[in-house]
Amino acid sequence: MRFDVITLFPAVFPGPLAAGVVGRALEQGLIEIEAHDLRQWGLGAHRQVDDIPYGGGPGMVLRPEPLFEAIRKVREVAGLPRPRGILLSAHGRRLTAELVEELAREPRLLLVCGRYEGVDERVSTGFQLDEVSVGDFVVSGGELPAMMLIEAVARRLPGTLGDPESAVDESFSAGLPEYPHYTRPAVFEGMAVPEVLRSGDHAKIASWRAEAAMERARRLRPDLLTGAGRERAAEPAARDEERGSGAAVAGVPLGGKQ
Ligand SMILES: C[S@@+](CC[C@H](N)C(=O)[O-])C[C@H]1O[C@@H](n2cnc3c(N)ncnc32)[C@H](O)[C@@H]1O
Repeated sequence: MRFDVITLFPAVFPGPLAAGVVGRALEQGLIEIEAHDLRQWGLGAHRQVDDIPYGGGPGMVLRPEPLFEAIRKVREVAGLPRPRGILLSAHGRRLTAELVEELAREPRLLLVCGRYEGVDERVSTGFQLDEVSVGDFVVSGGELPAMMLIEAVARRLPGTLGDPESAVDESFSAGLPEYPHYTRPAVFEGMAVPEVLRSGDHAKIASWRAEAAMERARRLRPDLLTGAGRERAAEPAARDEERGSGAAVAGVPLGGKQ
């Protein structure tokens, strides 16, 4: 899969994407990332890319002409499929596991990083870009959000993760948080690993994990308890635990040492 990124700061790529599993995918050629410097399409001798907003207000806005040039140039590369275009924006559609899954089916993505107060609206309108947000907060530019998107999409591609099961089981793959993990030692600073995880009884372990994930959702992400999450909450293990008979979250308090 190939990612083309249009940015005023191409030097920050691949940055953290060069580390870990995604770094390995880059080395192996499973993914390609090319950052394109928007400045090269800037206007005039000063390569201007921004201007003051119509209607007044603080800050500068990225002008449409350099971005139109850049997008036209970058999306048409002989031999490559025309990419789906995405504009990173704070007000865009939220990046979720579902959207990541959808994007991972594309052969190529074009990511446009805003800066300053944002991007002239005609850029997303003109190219029908999908606006994507990494959360309800504002960062200074689209580069870090683009990296998060690339990282999340790349780890869904076949061959990126050493153990493909890692992606099947992780948080949000079934619409819920993942269950808690423990490794050695069995007891650490007075906190014991739940007995069931050391029992070798795989059915009981699976049931404990399902319930622990539900407990996490109820405590940390009640908003997830709709749809599939709500159906799972209605399953017997969850109801037992609510009545206080579930051994599901035995062991240490899930919140940690108290
Ligand atoms: C300082 S922000 C502009 C914020 C804009 N004035 C607003 O209030 O929504 C500059 C750029 O950072 C990127 N950005 C900021 N927050 C983001 C978020 N939560 N998700 C995705 N991109 C974001 C966008 O590309 C945006 O154009």
